[in-house]
Amino acid sequence: MRESIGKFRIKFSRSLRLDLFLIICLVGIIPGAILSEAFLSNYEKKAVETRIRTAKEQCLIISDHLYQLGYPDAAENGTASSELALISDLYDGRVMLIGPDLKAVKDTYSRCEGRYIVSAKAARGLLGESSSEYDSDSRMIEIVTPISARDAEPVGVMLTYIGTSDIASVLENSRKLCTLLLLALSAIALGIAIVVAAKIIGQFRRLSASVENIRYGFDEEKISIFDYRETAQINDAFNQVITRMKNLDDSRSEFVANVSHELKTPITSIKLLAESITAEPDAPKELYGEFMSDIIAEVDREDKIINDLLSLVKMDRTATDLKIEKCDIDTMLEGIIKRLMPIADRDKVELIFETIRPVIAEVDETKLSSAFTNIIENGIKYNHEGGTVKITLDSEPMQFVVTVEDTGIGIPKEDIPNIFERFYRVDKSHSREIGGTGLGLAIARSSILMHKGTVKVDSTPGEGSRFEIKIPLSYIVAPASEAVQENEAKEGRP
Ligand SMILES: Nc1ncnc2c1ncn2[C@@H]1O[C@H](COP(=O)(O)OP(=O)(O)OP(=O)(O)O)[C@@H](O)[C@H]1O
Ligand SMILES: [Mg+2]
Repeated sequence: MRESIGKFRIKFSRSLRLDLFLIICLVGIIPGAILSEAFLSNYEKKAVETRIRTAKEQCLIISDHLYQLGYPDAAENGTASSELALISDLYDGRVMLIGPDLKAVKDTYSRCEGRYIVSAKAARGLLGESSSEYDSDSRMIEIVTPISARDAEPVGVMLTYIGTSDIASVLENSRKLCTLLLLALSAIALGIAIVVAAKIIGQFRRLSASVENIRYGFDEEKISIFDYRETAQINDAFNQVITRMKNLDDSRSEFVANVSHELKTPITSIKLLAESITAEPDAPKELYGEFMSDIIAEVDREDKIINDLLSLVKMDRTATDLKIEKCDIDTMLEGIIKRLMPIADRDKVELIFETIRPVIAEVDETKLSSAFTNIIENGIKYNHEGGTVKITLDSEPMQFVVTVEDTGIGIPKEDIPNIFERFYRVDKSHSREIGGTGLGLAIARSSILMHKGTVKVDSTPGEGSRFEIKIPLSYIVAPASEAVQENEAKEGRP
Protein backbone atom coordinates (compact mmCIF):
# COMPACT_ATOMS: atom_id res chain seq x y z
CA MET A 1 0.00 0.00 0.00
CA ARG A 2 2.79 2.33 1.04
CA GLU A 3 4.76 1.45 -2.07
CA SER A 4 1.73 2.03 -4.18
CA ILE A 5 1.16 5.44 -2.56
CA GLY A 6 4.85 6.24 -3.09
CA LYS A 7 4.74 5.14 -6.73
CA PHE A 8 1.60 7.11 -7.31
CA ARG A 9 3.17 10.24 -5.81
CA ILE A 10 6.39 10.05 -7.84
CA LYS A 11 4.56 9.38 -11.09
CA PHE A 12 2.09 12.15 -10.39
CA SER A 13 4.74 14.78 -9.51
CA ARG A 14 6.82 14.01 -12.59
CA SER A 15 3.97 14.11 -15.00
CA LEU A 16 2.57 17.24 -13.43
CA ARG A 17 5.86 19.09 -13.85
CA LEU A 18 6.21 17.86 -17.40
CA ASP A 19 2.60 18.67 -18.18
CA LEU A 20 2.98 22.19 -16.86
CA PHE A 21 6.12 22.71 -18.91
CA LEU A 22 4.44 21.31 -22.00
CA ILE A 23 1.42 23.54 -21.48
CA ILE A 24 3.62 26.62 -21.07
CA CYS A 25 5.61 25.56 -24.18
CA LEU A 26 2.47 24.93 -26.18
CA VAL A 27 0.71 28.14 -25.21
CA GLY A 28 3.77 30.36 -25.03
CA ILE A 29 7.05 29.31 -26.60
CA ILE A 30 5.94 27.37 -29.68
CA PRO A 31 3.39 29.98 -30.83
CA GLY A 32 6.04 32.65 -30.04
CA ALA A 33 8.58 30.88 -32.27
CA ILE A 34 6.06 30.45 -35.09
CA LEU A 35 4.95 34.07 -34.83
CA SER A 36 8.50 35.42 -34.82
CA GLU A 37 9.40 33.29 -37.87
CA ALA A 38 6.28 34.52 -39.67
CA PHE A 39 7.11 38.10 -38.75
CA LEU A 40 10.71 37.78 -40.01
CA SER A 41 9.80 36.19 -43.33
CA ASN A 42 7.08 38.78 -43.84
CA TYR A 43 9.55 41.51 -43.09
CA GLU A 44 12.01 40.06 -45.66
CA LYS A 45 9.27 39.80 -48.29
CA LYS A 46 8.08 43.37 -47.73
CA ALA A 47 11.63 44.79 -47.61
CA VAL A 48 12.58 43.03 -50.88
CA GLU A 49 9.36 44.21 -52.56
CA THR A 50 10.05 47.81 -51.52
CA ARG A 51 13.63 47.50 -52.70
CA ILE A 52 12.53 46.13 -56.09
CA ARG A 53 9.92 48.87 -56.49
CA THR A 54 12.33 51.74 -55.74
CA ALA A 55 15.17 50.22 -57.76
CA LYS A 56 12.87 49.61 -60.73
CA GLU A 57 11.76 53.27 -60.67
CA GLN A 58 15.36 54.41 -60.55
CA CYS A 59 16.34 52.02 -63.38
CA LEU A 60 13.47 53.34 -65.47
CA ILE A 61 14.59 56.94 -64.94
CA ILE A 62 18.19 56.05 -65.90
CA SER A 63 17.11 54.05 -68.96
CA ASP A 64 14.93 56.98 -70.13
CA HIS A 65 17.86 59.25 -69.53
CA LEU A 66 20.16 56.98 -71.53
CA TYR A 67 17.69 56.84 -74.40
CA GLN A 68 17.30 60.61 -74.45
CA LEU A 69 21.06 61.10 -74.39
CA GLY A 70 21.35 58.75 -77.38
CA TYR A 71 22.03 55.11 -76.60
CA PRO A 72 24.53 53.36 -76.91
CA ASP A 73 26.87 56.35 -77.24
CA ALA A 74 25.37 57.91 -74.16
CA ALA A 75 26.75 54.99 -72.16
CA GLU A 76 30.11 56.64 -72.18
CA ASN A 77 28.59 59.99 -71.30
CA GLY A 78 29.90 61.28 -67.94
CA THR A 79 26.43 61.96 -66.48
CA ALA A 80 25.10 58.55 -67.44
CA SER A 81 28.24 56.86 -66.11
CA SER A 82 27.98 58.59 -62.79
CA GLU A 83 24.27 57.71 -62.57
CA LEU A 84 25.14 54.05 -63.18
CA ALA A 85 27.97 54.20 -60.64
CA LEU A 86 25.62 55.80 -58.12
CA ILE A 87 22.98 53.10 -58.43
CA SER A 88 25.52 50.30 -58.24
CA ASP A 89 27.11 51.92 -55.15
CA LEU A 90 23.79 52.66 -53.56
CA TYR A 91 22.59 49.08 -53.76
CA ASP A 92 25.96 47.39 -53.59
CA GLY A 93 25.21 45.99 -57.05
CA ARG A 94 26.16 45.90 -60.67
CA VAL A 95 24.71 47.51 -63.80
CA MET A 96 25.23 46.23 -67.33
CA LEU A 97 24.09 47.99 -70.47
CA ILE A 98 23.46 45.66 -73.38
CA GLY A 99 23.21 46.66 -76.97
CA PRO A 100 20.65 45.44 -79.56
CA ASP A 101 23.06 42.68 -80.56
CA LEU A 102 23.22 41.39 -76.91
CA LYS A 103 26.76 42.71 -76.58
CA ALA A 104 27.62 44.34 -73.25
CA VAL A 105 28.17 48.05 -73.82
CA LYS A 106 28.83 48.99 -70.24
CA ASP A 107 29.53 47.00 -67.04
CA THR A 108 30.07 48.78 -63.74
CA TYR A 109 32.29 45.83 -62.78
CA SER A 110 34.18 46.36 -66.10
CA ARG A 111 34.32 42.62 -66.64
CA CYS A 112 31.98 41.87 -69.48
CA GLU A 113 32.27 44.97 -71.71
CA GLY A 114 32.37 43.91 -75.35
CA ARG A 115 31.22 40.39 -74.55
CA TYR A 116 27.96 38.83 -75.64
CA ILE A 117 25.55 38.25 -72.83
CA VAL A 118 23.65 35.05 -73.35
CA SER A 119 20.54 35.61 -71.25
CA ALA A 120 16.93 34.84 -72.03
CA LYS A 121 15.80 37.71 -69.86
CA ALA A 122 18.08 40.14 -71.71
CA ALA A 123 16.72 38.85 -75.01
CA ARG A 124 13.16 39.34 -73.76
CA GLY A 125 14.19 42.82 -72.57
CA LEU A 126 15.14 43.64 -76.13
CA LEU A 127 11.60 42.68 -77.08
CA GLY A 128 10.33 45.30 -74.60
CA GLU A 129 9.66 43.03 -71.62
CA SER A 130 10.80 44.41 -68.30
CA SER A 131 11.14 41.98 -65.38
CA SER A 132 12.46 41.63 -61.87
CA GLU A 133 13.40 38.56 -59.83
CA TYR A 134 14.70 37.92 -56.34
CA ASP A 135 17.07 35.02 -55.79
CA SER A 136 16.79 34.18 -52.09
CA ASP A 137 19.93 31.97 -52.16
CA SER A 138 22.29 34.62 -53.48
CA ARG A 139 20.09 37.35 -51.99
CA MET A 140 20.31 39.31 -55.25
CA ILE A 141 17.59 41.15 -57.17
CA GLU A 142 17.84 41.11 -60.92
CA ILE A 143 16.02 43.90 -62.78
CA VAL A 144 15.69 43.95 -66.56
CA THR A 145 14.80 47.39 -67.97
CA PRO A 146 14.46 47.91 -71.75
CA ILE A 147 16.06 51.13 -73.00
CA SER A 148 13.45 52.66 -75.25
CA ALA A 149 11.09 55.48 -75.82
CA ARG A 150 7.47 54.85 -74.88
CA ASP A 151 5.93 52.27 -77.27
CA ALA A 152 9.09 52.21 -79.38
CA GLU A 153 11.36 49.28 -80.07
CA PRO A 154 14.10 48.95 -77.43
CA VAL A 155 17.59 49.96 -78.47
CA GLY A 156 19.17 48.11 -75.61
CA VAL A 157 18.64 46.59 -72.18
CA MET A 158 19.77 47.65 -68.76
CA LEU A 159 20.55 44.66 -66.48
CA THR A 160 20.72 45.66 -62.84
CA TYR A 161 21.82 43.35 -60.02
CA ILE A 162 20.99 44.71 -56.60
CA GLY A 163 22.33 43.30 -53.36
CA THR A 164 20.10 42.90 -50.30
CA SER A 165 22.82 42.29 -47.72
CA ASP A 166 21.53 45.18 -45.58
CA ILE A 167 18.07 43.52 -45.47
CA ALA A 168 19.75 40.20 -44.68
CA SER A 169 21.77 41.67 -41.86
CA VAL A 170 18.68 43.36 -40.34
CA LEU A 171 16.95 40.00 -40.68
CA GLU A 172 19.86 38.19 -39.08
CA ASN A 173 19.95 40.61 -36.14
CA SER A 174 16.20 40.36 -35.67
CA ARG A 175 16.40 36.57 -35.78
CA LYS A 176 19.15 36.58 -33.14
CA LEU A 177 17.07 38.89 -30.98
CA CYS A 178 14.00 36.67 -31.37
CA THR A 179 16.02 33.56 -30.51
CA LEU A 180 17.39 35.27 -27.43
CA LEU A 181 13.91 36.36 -26.42
CA LEU A 182 12.55 32.85 -26.93
CA LEU A 183 15.39 31.35 -24.92
CA ALA A 184 14.70 33.84 -22.13
CA LEU A 185 10.99 32.99 -22.37
CA SER A 186 11.76 29.26 -22.19
CA ALA A 187 13.92 29.78 -19.13
CA ILE A 188 11.18 31.85 -17.47
CA ALA A 189 8.55 29.24 -18.47
CA LEU A 190 10.67 26.45 -17.07
CA GLY A 191 11.19 28.42 -13.87
CA ILE A 192 7.46 29.08 -13.53
CA ALA A 193 6.68 25.42 -14.29
CA ILE A 194 9.13 24.27 -11.62
CA VAL A 195 7.83 26.73 -9.00
CA VAL A 196 4.12 26.10 -9.73
CA ALA A 197 4.59 22.33 -9.96
CA ALA A 198 6.61 22.33 -6.73
CA LYS A 199 3.82 24.26 -5.00
CA ILE A 200 1.07 21.97 -6.28
CA ILE A 201 3.11 18.83 -5.68
CA GLY A 202 3.91 20.11 -2.20
CA GLN A 203 0.16 20.25 -1.52
CA PHE A 204 -0.37 16.69 -2.74
CA ARG A 205 2.67 15.47 -0.82
CA ARG A 206 1.26 16.96 2.36
CA LEU A 207 -2.11 15.44 1.57
CA SER A 208 -0.50 12.08 0.87
CA ALA A 209 1.58 12.29 4.07
CA SER A 210 -1.55 13.09 6.10
CA VAL A 211 -3.39 10.19 4.47
CA GLU A 212 -0.51 7.92 5.37
CA ASN A 213 -0.54 9.16 8.97
CA ILE A 214 -4.25 8.54 9.18
CA ARG A 215 -3.70 5.02 7.93
CA TYR A 216 -2.05 4.31 11.27
CA GLY A 217 -5.13 5.35 13.26
CA PHE A 218 -8.10 7.65 13.29
CA ASP A 219 -6.69 9.60 16.24
CA GLU A 220 -4.84 11.78 13.74
CA GLU A 221 -6.06 15.32 13.47
CA LYS A 222 -8.04 16.34 10.45
CA ILE A 223 -6.19 17.28 7.28
CA SER A 224 -6.01 21.01 6.58
CA ILE A 225 -4.52 21.83 3.18
CA PHE A 226 -6.44 24.78 1.85
CA ASP A 227 -4.04 26.68 -0.47
CA TYR A 228 -5.94 25.80 -3.64
CA ARG A 229 -9.67 25.44 -4.07
CA GLU A 230 -9.18 22.01 -5.69
CA THR A 231 -6.95 20.67 -2.91
CA ALA A 232 -9.32 22.19 -0.36
CA GLN A 233 -12.15 20.18 -1.97
CA ILE A 234 -10.14 16.94 -1.79
CA ASN A 235 -9.24 17.90 1.75
CA ASP A 236 -12.89 18.43 2.72
CA ALA A 237 -13.97 15.21 1.04
CA PHE A 238 -11.25 13.32 2.85
CA ASN A 239 -12.17 14.89 6.20
CA GLN A 240 -15.75 13.82 5.63
CA VAL A 241 -14.54 10.28 4.97
CA ILE A 242 -12.47 10.41 8.17
CA THR A 243 -15.44 11.69 10.16
CA ARG A 244 -17.64 8.97 8.70
CA MET A 245 -15.04 6.33 9.45
CA LYS A 246 -14.68 7.65 13.00
CA ASN A 247 -18.43 7.62 13.46
CA LEU A 248 -18.64 4.10 12.08
CA ASP A 249 -15.79 3.05 14.33
CA ASP A 250 -17.45 4.67 17.35
CA SER A 251 -20.83 3.15 16.59
CA ARG A 252 -19.25 -0.24 15.97
CA SER A 253 -17.44 -0.10 19.33
CA GLU A 254 -20.61 1.10 21.04
CA PHE A 255 -22.62 -1.64 19.37
CA VAL A 256 -20.15 -4.34 20.37
CA ALA A 257 -20.12 -3.00 23.95
CA ASN A 258 -23.92 -2.92 24.04
CA VAL A 259 -24.27 -6.42 22.58
CA SER A 260 -21.76 -7.81 25.06
CA HIS A 261 -23.50 -6.08 27.93
CA GLU A 262 -26.97 -7.16 26.86
CA LEU A 263 -25.91 -10.75 26.29
CA LYS A 264 -24.04 -10.85 29.56
CA THR A 265 -26.90 -9.58 31.73
CA PRO A 266 -29.19 -12.66 31.40
CA ILE A 267 -26.19 -15.00 31.77
CA THR A 268 -25.14 -13.24 34.96
CA SER A 269 -28.71 -13.57 36.28
CA ILE A 270 -28.84 -17.27 35.33
CA LYS A 271 -25.49 -17.84 37.06
CA LEU A 272 -26.64 -16.02 40.20
CA LEU A 273 -29.92 -17.92 40.28
CA ALA A 274 -28.16 -21.27 39.77
CA GLU A 275 -25.55 -20.48 42.46
CA SER A 276 -28.23 -19.43 44.94
CA ILE A 277 -30.24 -22.59 44.46
CA THR A 278 -27.12 -24.76 44.64
CA ALA A 279 -26.12 -23.07 47.91
CA GLU A 280 -29.39 -24.22 49.47
CA PRO A 281 -29.65 -27.98 48.96
CA ASP A 282 -32.50 -28.22 51.47
CA ALA A 283 -34.62 -25.60 49.82
CA PRO A 284 -38.26 -26.55 49.27
CA LYS A 285 -39.39 -27.82 45.90
CA GLU A 286 -41.52 -24.69 45.33
CA LEU A 287 -38.44 -22.48 45.67
CA TYR A 288 -36.62 -24.66 43.13
CA GLY A 289 -39.56 -24.26 40.77
CA GLU A 290 -39.54 -20.47 41.26
CA PHE A 291 -35.77 -20.25 40.55
CA MET A 292 -36.13 -22.51 37.53
CA SER A 293 -38.88 -20.36 36.01
CA ASP A 294 -36.69 -17.27 36.61
CA ILE A 295 -33.85 -19.06 34.80
CA ILE A 296 -36.23 -19.95 31.94
CA ALA A 297 -37.31 -16.28 31.72
CA GLU A 298 -33.69 -15.19 31.48
CA VAL A 299 -32.99 -17.82 28.79
CA ASP A 300 -36.04 -16.54 26.88
CA ARG A 301 -34.70 -13.02 27.19
CA GLU A 302 -31.29 -14.10 25.88
CA ASP A 303 -33.08 -15.88 23.03
CA LYS A 304 -35.07 -12.75 22.16
CA ILE A 305 -31.91 -10.58 22.10
CA ILE A 306 -30.15 -13.03 19.79
CA ASN A 307 -33.19 -13.26 17.51
CA ASP A 308 -33.54 -9.47 17.38
CA LEU A 309 -29.85 -9.10 16.62
CA LEU A 310 -30.11 -11.68 13.87
CA SER A 311 -33.06 -9.96 12.25
CA LEU A 312 -31.23 -6.62 12.46
CA VAL A 313 -28.16 -8.10 10.76
CA LYS A 314 -30.40 -9.80 8.21
CA MET A 315 -32.10 -6.48 7.55
CA ASP A 316 -28.71 -4.86 6.80
CA ARG A 317 -27.54 -7.72 4.65
CA THR A 318 -30.69 -8.16 2.58
CA ALA A 319 -31.31 -4.46 2.07
CA THR A 320 -31.47 -5.02 -1.67
CA ASP A 321 -33.64 -8.13 -1.87
CA LEU A 322 -36.98 -7.05 -0.52
CA LYS A 323 -39.94 -9.22 -1.49
CA ILE A 324 -42.06 -6.47 -2.92
CA GLU A 325 -45.68 -7.39 -3.54
CA LYS A 326 -48.99 -5.57 -3.76
CA CYS A 327 -50.41 -5.60 -0.25
CA ASP A 328 -53.64 -4.51 1.36
CA ILE A 329 -52.29 -2.37 4.21
CA ASP A 330 -55.69 -2.25 5.90
CA THR A 331 -55.81 -6.04 6.21
CA MET A 332 -52.14 -6.16 7.25
CA LEU A 333 -52.76 -3.70 10.12
CA GLU A 334 -55.90 -5.55 11.18
CA GLY A 335 -53.84 -8.78 11.40
CA ILE A 336 -51.19 -7.08 13.54
CA ILE A 337 -53.79 -5.62 15.86
CA LYS A 338 -55.45 -9.02 16.22
CA ARG A 339 -52.13 -10.60 17.17
CA LEU A 340 -51.41 -7.87 19.73
CA MET A 341 -54.86 -7.91 21.25
CA PRO A 342 -53.99 -10.47 24.02
CA ILE A 343 -51.09 -8.29 25.24
CA ALA A 344 -53.29 -5.20 25.10
CA ASP A 345 -56.03 -7.01 27.06
CA ARG A 346 -53.47 -8.20 29.62
CA ASP A 347 -52.19 -4.63 30.11
CA LYS A 348 -55.75 -3.23 29.96
CA VAL A 349 -54.95 -0.99 27.03
CA GLU A 350 -57.56 -0.33 24.37
CA LEU A 351 -56.56 -0.68 20.70
CA ILE A 352 -58.48 1.53 18.25
CA PHE A 353 -58.07 1.14 14.51
CA GLU A 354 -59.39 3.67 12.00
CA THR A 355 -59.06 3.49 8.24
CA ILE A 356 -59.61 6.91 6.65
CA ARG A 357 -58.76 5.63 3.17
CA PRO A 358 -57.99 1.97 2.39
CA VAL A 359 -54.57 1.43 0.83
CA ILE A 360 -53.03 -1.05 -1.58
CA ALA A 361 -49.26 -0.56 -1.74
CA GLU A 362 -46.14 -2.28 -3.05
CA VAL A 363 -44.30 -3.41 0.08
CA ASP A 364 -42.45 -6.31 1.67
CA GLU A 365 -45.29 -7.40 3.94
CA THR A 366 -43.19 -9.41 6.42
CA LYS A 367 -40.62 -6.68 7.02
CA LEU A 368 -43.13 -3.86 7.17
CA SER A 369 -45.52 -5.71 9.47
CA SER A 370 -42.65 -6.43 11.90
CA ALA A 371 -41.96 -2.66 11.97
CA PHE A 372 -45.63 -1.78 12.66
CA THR A 373 -45.91 -4.59 15.22
CA ASN A 374 -43.01 -3.11 17.16
CA ILE A 375 -44.31 0.43 17.13
CA ILE A 376 -47.84 -0.63 18.14
CA GLU A 377 -46.44 -3.00 20.78
CA ASN A 378 -44.42 -0.11 22.23
CA GLY A 379 -47.63 1.91 22.42
CA ILE A 380 -49.13 -0.87 24.56
CA LYS A 381 -45.98 -1.57 26.60
CA TYR A 382 -45.25 2.03 27.51
CA ASN A 383 -48.84 2.82 28.44
CA HIS A 384 -50.95 2.98 31.57
CA GLU A 385 -53.80 0.75 32.61
CA GLY A 386 -56.92 2.03 30.88
CA GLY A 387 -54.84 3.85 28.23
CA THR A 388 -55.41 3.69 24.48
CA VAL A 389 -53.40 3.14 21.32
CA LYS A 390 -55.02 4.59 18.23
CA ILE A 391 -53.85 3.38 14.82
CA THR A 392 -54.92 5.35 11.77
CA LEU A 393 -54.41 4.54 8.11
CA ASP A 394 -54.68 7.25 5.48
CA SER A 395 -53.48 7.78 1.96
CA GLU A 396 -51.75 10.74 0.30
CA PRO A 397 -51.11 11.23 -3.46
CA MET A 398 -47.87 9.22 -3.56
CA GLN A 399 -47.69 7.56 -0.17
CA PHE A 400 -49.71 6.09 2.66
CA VAL A 401 -49.58 7.28 6.26
CA VAL A 402 -49.92 5.18 9.39
CA THR A 403 -50.09 6.98 12.72
CA VAL A 404 -49.75 5.19 16.05
CA GLU A 405 -50.87 7.44 18.87
CA ASP A 406 -50.79 6.32 22.49
CA THR A 407 -51.76 7.82 25.81
CA GLY A 408 -48.71 6.31 27.53
CA ILE A 409 -45.72 7.54 29.50
CA GLY A 410 -44.27 9.58 26.61
CA ILE A 411 -40.64 10.14 25.70
CA PRO A 412 -38.50 13.05 26.96
CA LYS A 413 -37.59 15.48 24.15
CA GLU A 414 -33.84 14.85 24.49
CA ASP A 415 -34.34 11.07 24.12
CA ILE A 416 -36.41 11.21 20.94
CA PRO A 417 -33.40 11.39 18.52
CA ASN A 418 -31.89 8.31 20.21
CA ILE A 419 -34.79 5.88 20.49
CA PHE A 420 -34.00 4.41 17.04
CA GLU A 421 -30.45 3.58 18.12
CA ARG A 422 -29.75 -0.07 18.80
CA PHE A 423 -30.17 -0.99 22.50
CA TYR A 424 -31.30 2.51 23.44
CA ARG A 425 -33.92 2.54 26.15
CA VAL A 426 -35.14 5.69 27.86
CA ASP A 427 -35.64 4.35 31.37
CA LYS A 428 -33.43 1.30 31.58
CA SER A 429 -34.80 -0.07 34.87
CA HIS A 430 -38.43 0.48 33.90
CA SER A 431 -37.86 -0.90 30.39
CA ARG A 432 -36.24 -3.97 31.86
CA GLU A 433 -39.20 -4.46 34.10
CA ILE A 434 -41.46 -4.15 31.05
CA GLY A 435 -39.16 -6.35 29.03
CA GLY A 436 -37.38 -5.46 25.85
CA THR A 437 -33.96 -5.28 24.28
CA GLY A 438 -34.02 -1.79 22.78
CA LEU A 439 -33.68 -3.23 19.28
CA GLY A 440 -37.34 -3.03 18.22
CA LEU A 441 -37.28 0.54 16.87
CA ALA A 442 -33.86 0.04 15.24
CA ILE A 443 -35.32 -2.90 13.30
CA ALA A 444 -38.49 -0.92 12.52
CA ARG A 445 -36.51 2.05 11.24
CA SER A 446 -34.32 -0.18 9.03
CA SER A 447 -37.40 -1.73 7.51
CA ILE A 448 -39.07 1.67 6.88
CA LEU A 449 -35.90 3.07 5.30
CA MET A 450 -35.65 0.01 3.06
CA HIS A 451 -39.08 1.00 1.75
CA LYS A 452 -37.77 4.57 1.19
CA GLY A 453 -40.21 5.74 3.85
CA THR A 454 -39.95 8.11 6.80
CA VAL A 455 -40.81 7.91 10.47
CA LYS A 456 -41.54 10.94 12.63
CA VAL A 457 -42.01 11.02 16.39
CA ASP A 458 -43.85 13.56 18.58
CA SER A 459 -44.10 12.92 22.26
CA THR A 460 -44.96 14.63 25.51
CA PRO A 461 -43.85 12.89 28.71
CA GLY A 462 -46.86 11.93 30.81
CA GLU A 463 -49.29 12.49 27.92
CA GLY A 464 -48.28 10.05 25.22
CA SER A 465 -46.45 9.58 21.94
CA ARG A 466 -47.35 9.80 18.26
CA PHE A 467 -45.42 7.88 15.57
CA GLU A 468 -46.13 8.89 11.96
CA ILE A 469 -44.89 6.52 9.28
CA LYS A 470 -45.05 7.43 5.60
CA ILE A 471 -44.31 4.82 2.91
CA PRO A 472 -44.42 5.35 -0.88
CA LEU A 473 -47.37 3.57 -2.50
CA SER A 474 -45.12 2.26 -5.28
CA TYR A 475 -41.75 0.86 -4.41
CA ILE A 476 -39.02 3.28 -5.52
CA VAL A 477 -36.01 1.54 -7.01
CA ALA A 478 -33.12 3.77 -5.94
CA PRO A 479 -29.76 3.11 -4.32
CA ALA A 480 -30.44 2.18 -0.71
CA SER A 481 -27.66 4.42 0.56
CA GLU A 482 -29.26 7.39 -1.22
CA ALA A 483 -32.63 6.63 0.31
CA VAL A 484 -31.11 6.25 3.75
CA GLN A 485 -29.34 9.60 3.40
CA GLU A 486 -32.49 11.26 2.08
CA ASN A 487 -34.54 9.87 4.90
CA GLU A 488 -31.96 10.81 7.47
CA ALA A 489 -32.03 14.33 6.06
CA LYS A 490 -35.86 14.37 6.18
CA GLU A 491 -35.76 13.22 9.77
CA GLY A 492 -33.13 15.80 10.58
CA ARG A 493 -30.79 13.05 11.74
CA PRO A 494 -27.02 13.37 11.40
N1 LIG B 1 -44.60 4.55 22.53
C1 LIG B 1 -43.61 4.76 23.37
N2 LIG B 1 -43.81 5.43 24.52
C2 LIG B 1 -42.81 5.67 25.38
N3 LIG B 1 -41.54 5.26 25.19
C3 LIG B 1 -41.28 4.58 24.08
C4 LIG B 1 -42.29 4.29 23.10
N4 LIG B 1 -41.70 3.62 22.10
C5 LIG B 1 -40.41 3.49 22.41
N5 LIG B 1 -40.14 4.05 23.59
C6 LIG B 1 -38.83 4.12 24.26
O1 LIG B 1 -37.85 3.85 23.30
C7 LIG B 1 -37.05 2.74 23.68
C8 LIG B 1 -36.66 1.94 22.48
O2 LIG B 1 -37.77 1.23 21.97
P1 LIG B 1 -37.55 -0.15 21.25
O3 LIG B 1 -38.82 -0.59 20.71
O4 LIG B 1 -36.40 0.03 20.33
O5 LIG B 1 -37.02 -1.08 22.39
P2 LIG B 1 -37.82 -1.86 23.51
O6 LIG B 1 -39.25 -1.68 23.31
O7 LIG B 1 -37.25 -1.42 24.81
O8 LIG B 1 -37.37 -3.34 23.23
P3 LIG B 1 -37.82 -4.31 22.06
O9 LIG B 1 -38.77 -3.56 21.21
O10 LIG B 1 -36.53 -4.59 21.35
O11 LIG B 1 -38.36 -5.50 22.71
C9 LIG B 1 -37.92 1.99 24.66
O12 LIG B 1 -37.13 1.28 25.56
C10 LIG B 1 -38.68 3.10 25.35
O13 LIG B 1 -37.88 3.67 26.38
MG1 LIG C 1 -40.16 -2.17 21.36
